[in-house]
Amino acid sequence: MKKNILKIIKAKNKKPLVCLTAYSKPIAKILDKYCDIVLVGDSLATALYGMKNTHYVTLEMMIRHGISVSSSLSKSLCVVDMPVNTYRNIKEAKKNARLIIKKTKCDAVKIECNGKNFKIIESVVKIGIPVMGHIGYTPQHYKKFRIHGLLEKDRLKLINEAKKNEKAGVFSIVVECVTDLVAKEITKTLKIPTIGIGSSIHCDGQILVTDDMIGLSGFYPRFVKKYVKLNNVIEKGVQKYNKAVLNKKFPSKKNIY
Ligand code: KIV
Repeated sequence: MKKNILKIIKAKNKKPLVCLTAYSKPIAKILDKYCDIVLVGDSLATALYGMKNTHYVTLEMMIRHGISVSSSLSKSLCVVDMPVNTYRNIKEAKKNARLIIKKTKCDAVKIECNGKNFKIIESVVKIGIPVMGHIGYTPQHYKKFRIHGLLEKDRLKLINEAKKNEKAGVFSIVVECVTDLVAKEITKTLKIPTIGIGSSIHCDGQILVTDDMIGLSGFYPRFVKKYVKLNNVIEKGVQKYNKAVLNKKFPSKKNIY
């Protein structure tokens, strides 16, 4: 049965939410069996397109990958990231959120919090589009990676942003690279589920960039655990192919017509 927003909210304090990213049909089809939420993250900029950061991702890119992933999921909830500069004001955010939903047929969009855009988030929720929030390290709004919540003023800012996101109507919130104590406090404070990335076991669910955890992105910060080293598996296959072609062993009789 297909997951819906209510089921995700109701999972809080009952069962940890399993979430991963996907940008393509083959990966989405594998994740569908195991994930509550599949996010078409704008991390595709670095993980897939080899860009320096997420700042150049376009709406068109997200829609293309969104269609591929959304059409491949039959169980998991599909969330598509709104890229930077597509929600700078209420009118723009509503127009682009509508377009993402219409074209990709995804279940929700994700909007990174910049500390001020609560009214914008609220306006998208109010037109009936479910929104996932994102606080802490929000790659669209920072040039450099840093841990969030180390200082008291940082802690207060994060709690405040989490509460304001909830008030704006988000159905869940990604908490990225926030200290474990602050992530715990946010999780206890909110009624909606927190989805941690680099933010400890205290969150209601976890998300990782799939390409990181399968060893394909080349990006391995401390919070990433590589569950499989697909880079080595692929390299071994390519090595064998290379040898077979050079030695005139491929294609064999079995592979020809
Ligand atoms: O873009 C992305 O993949 C994300 C996750 C890291 C949460 O925002």
